[in-house]
Amino acid sequence: MFGPRKTLGSAAAPEGRLAKTLGWPHLIALGVGAIVGTGIYTLTGVGAERAGPAVILAFAIAGAVCACAALAYAELATMIPAAGSAYTFSYTAVGETIAWIVGWSLILEYSLACSTVAVGWSGYLVGWVQAVGVTLPPELLVGPHGGGIVNLPAVLVALAVMGMLVAGTRESATLNIVLVVIKLVALTVFVAFALPAFDGGNLQPFMPYGFGSTEVDGAKRGVMAAAAIVFFAFYGFDTVATSAEEARNPGRDLTIGIVGSMVVCTVIYMAVAVAAVGAVPFRALADSPEPLALVLRSLGQPGAAYLIALAAVIALPSVILVMMYGQSRVFFVMARDGLLPRWLAAVSPRSGAPTRITLLTGVAIAVIAGLVRLDRIAELANAGTLIAFISVGASLMILRRRAPDAPRRFRCPAPFVVGTFTILGCLYLFSSLPVTTFFWCAVWNAVGLTLYFLYGRRHSLLRRPAG
Ligand code: ALA
Repeated sequence: MFGPRKTLGSAAAPEGRLAKTLGWPHLIALGVGAIVGTGIYTLTGVGAERAGPAVILAFAIAGAVCACAALAYAELATMIPAAGSAYTFSYTAVGETIAWIVGWSLILEYSLACSTVAVGWSGYLVGWVQAVGVTLPPELLVGPHGGGIVNLPAVLVALAVMGMLVAGTRESATLNIVLVVIKLVALTVFVAFALPAFDGGNLQPFMPYGFGSTEVDGAKRGVMAAAAIVFFAFYGFDTVATSAEEARNPGRDLTIGIVGSMVVCTVIYMAVAVAAVGAVPFRALADSPEPLALVLRSLGQPGAAYLIALAAVIALPSVILVMMYGQSRVFFVMARDGLLPRWLAAVSPRSGAPTRITLLTGVAIAVIAGLVRLDRIAELANAGTLIAFISVGASLMILRRRAPDAPRRFRCPAPFVVGTFTILGCLYLFSSLPVTTFFWCAVWNAVGLTLYFLYGRRHSLLRRPAG
């Protein structure tokens, strides 16, 4: 139907057809489980440093852009219910070279998201351990950028999750619900303790660095600079879109699942942000590795701070698990299509996991988590994700034009408005990132495209006319 491009259904999910067991409450739980993590627990502090109290607005902006991207994802996922997410959609809509760039960007998104969450986890673990009176060697708690040697807890949690995936672990639906409840109860406790200390004076001035992202003292600041970083807090919803095959009634349940998890998260994030910047001057949050616990401690609530940190320590590794799993899945599909060496994607007959890919990327994730600054990693993860979202917005519109009558079990409302808003919103967020992020993103893509032209293009199994 689409010439040499991937045809609809040409990439069946590797595990064959999946049972249709998920209703919308499961899908919302799945979404919230994958979405709520270091973005709200830790990057709220970085966002406050960049935007001041207007970090509240930054969450709303990032949430609105992600909601549009999520609707586009949902339509494409029910139209092309195959593994590989944005890579597969782009292959179908635009062709191989763009699909490669998107797949390569997704590797950046998923891997660096794992590193980011690992560093966020480490911040809460260390705060929690030290709150009970144990002193840890400081040089093993932060990388060279902070005067230490390595962030050892971040390395260890990344390697532990890698080990679980290699052993074939998948998060069960029940465990996911338990973790979602823990994360949400902790955030509710935070709001309940911090909101009574709300002081309108802390919100003045609301936008100390203005709206647009501009360079102030060598760092990007402004509401958009904050939105470009707290954008991290929203992704992970593609796990809902990629569950399309398992949805009982995709047309209805996916819409509710995706839009619902976005709305739930945006409301929670804005409530947490209002409570945090209302309770303490925003500068107090900046640079804290555990800003929510810090707010509660400074309000004289060490018990609540301890509980928040405990919840983060228990629940955040599951976000790493979901992201590392998604990462190996994208790698797997790219290798199956011949763009990456197939031996890399070999699946262990014992555990059913792509062991080599998982080991390779798990170690890289651990090294980055051990050595690089949290905001730098998150910014680059965001750059990769934004590239993928732009392509998803474009793919939505291209396929509506090219194959208007192809079956879609979920039809995105006002697709050309949603698609255009996704592209423009993501471009605006991308342009609000720091220059160093553009540089590393360009380096990553230059390496990627070199690999593609030297290897992928020649070994592609799909470039030959598809049947
Ligand atoms: N959205 C996920 C988080 O904030 C990746 O941790």
